[in-house]
Amino acid sequence: MTLDAPRQIRTDRSVAEVYDYGAHVWSWALDGEPVLWTSAESVFEQGKALRGGVPICWPWFGPGRTGDLTPAHGFARISDWSLDGRVDVADAEVLTYVLGPDDAPDALPGERWRVTYVVSIGDDLDLALTVENRGATPFSYEVALHTYLTVGDVRQVAIAGLDGAPYLDKVTRAREVQSGDVTITAETDRVYDRAGEVVVTDPVLGRLLRISTDGAANTVVWNPWVAKAAAMPDFGDGEWSGMLCIEAGNMLESAVTLEPGASRTVRYRLAVEGT
Ligand code: BG6
Repeated sequence: MTLDAPRQIRTDRSVAEVYDYGAHVWSWALDGEPVLWTSAESVFEQGKALRGGVPICWPWFGPGRTGDLTPAHGFARISDWSLDGRVDVADAEVLTYVLGPDDAPDALPGERWRVTYVVSIGDDLDLALTVENRGATPFSYEVALHTYLTVGDVRQVAIAGLDGAPYLDKVTRAREVQSGDVTITAETDRVYDRAGEVVVTDPVLGRLLRISTDGAANTVVWNPWVAKAAAMPDFGDGEWSGMLCIEAGNMLESAVTLEPGASRTVRYRLAVEGT
């Protein structure tokens, strides 16, 4: 079944589209320039993930810590979320989405939980995902805000903020330590044990993308490069050079365990500056 049309958001400087499906921020453009990346080959069908924007990975990342969970990246991005509020605040429009066990195709077994996602769209993009444990026993999850960024040419960007951070290289399965800025020269799929401010300098588009996070332990840097892009049916063969994922969350050894009554928020803010 094809998805319902996304919600259209307009503020003084920005235009965005948000699907209730996945509570998925699909596009965000500032002063007419796309900041989020979207694939021209994305599919828009129930049960399939969108390729681009900001998919929510929850309650596991990729195939999960056991390596065998499906759907990939959890069910949040392929679930119908409920819009709980839409208000204008200063120069931004703020949407609040909720997801609970009744909305999810594959709830955490035997648990009561609620996920609230507050999306603020304006001169910046500000995303906050809160997971609450409303049950009687602890549960664990992984989470990521899997942001796809538009870049002029991924081979020319410099990613600052991760110097000295240990990471798992998911391409080679080796553990490494970052030295200097991250540059993209081949398929790149890394889970860094650091979150915080990351700045992407894009000389082709003449701008900086400043990402700041709270409540996250990990930063993921992903670009599929040539062969992997060609192998993905919802990813155009030539599209890989114009995108870069900088994701923030908690995964692998940094998975979150929530005690009964506890909650935890991951926040991701994206700002654009001229160079
Ligand atoms: C990244 C993972 O976050 O998402 C990659 O680190 C994965 O391993 C990529 O390939 C895309 O995942 P998917 O499920 O949207 O194709």
